[in-house]
Amino acid sequence: MSIIVLLGAPGAGKGTQAPTLANHLDVPVLASGDLLRAAVAAGTPLGLEADRYMSRGQLIPDDTIVKIFLDQLRSRARNGAVLDGFPRTRAQAEALDRALAEHGDKVDRALYIAVPLDDLVVRMASRRICEANGHVYNVATNPPQTPNQCDIDGSPLIQRPDDEEATVRARMAQQVPPLEDVAEHYRSAGILRTVEGRQSIEGVSGDLIAALEDGAPA
Ligand code: AP5
Ligand code: MG
Repeated sequence: MSIIVLLGAPGAGKGTQAPTLANHLDVPVLASGDLLRAAVAAGTPLGLEADRYMSRGQLIPDDTIVKIFLDQLRSRARNGAVLDGFPRTRAQAEALDRALAEHGDKVDRALYIAVPLDDLVVRMASRRICEANGHVYNVATNPPQTPNQCDIDGSPLIQRPDDEEATVRARMAQQVPPLEDVAEHYRSAGILRTVEGRQSIEGVSGDLIAALEDGAPA
């Protein structure tokens, strides 16, 4: 069982890096944002609730996300998983610890992709994701081979509604402080590693994989 938590501010590169780490470890990616966007698109009760928070750049309530995310973890993470976007608050991190401890498991590594906030606002303006599966592109730094079409599944590329600049700034203001609490939670457990996010996508991947294997205390 290998549970890896990927941390970073909105736009730091979690969704870009999670599949590479998951392939390396041969485990699935569980991405809270993708889960919520699918619920919004399907118009489920969860989607309707989540949309109210996501469109304002706010975190959705801990009770709601903890329940759905831990259900996914139980059903899909038999040999481990890379967690993208969960936990986002100290309460979520503690709920995850408790759920894993029930089966004698724990978070093995928390990997923090560090990027200054001003760089992130710029990145998000040029981000595109694919409609079918949320694969991540950037028209400036990481374009698809065919314009507006996903290299992996061929679906059209779209802009996320929460990537509008005012919403991005709200996400930063409201979500970075609790993210720091989560980082501290893992730092005090000795399992946090921080990686420089202002380098090529391949450079970040290499550092993340090296940090996975670095057994030294943080
Ligand atoms: P979520 O979808 O998780 O959004 P987020 O955390 O804000 O992160 P992003 O997906 O925006 O960024 P990312 O780090 O994945 O970056 P990416 O790889 O795309 O959550 C959305 C919403 O759902 C939240 O706002 C909240 O409302 C709710 N939510 C989710 N989880 C929750 C939870 N646990 N509790 C409560 N609410 C929750 O990269 C960004 C761009 O940069 C891309 O264009 C990419 O191509 C480019 N890029 C990536 N790496 C590089 C690089 N090295 N150099 C240059 N460009 C790069
Ligand atoms: Mg993402």
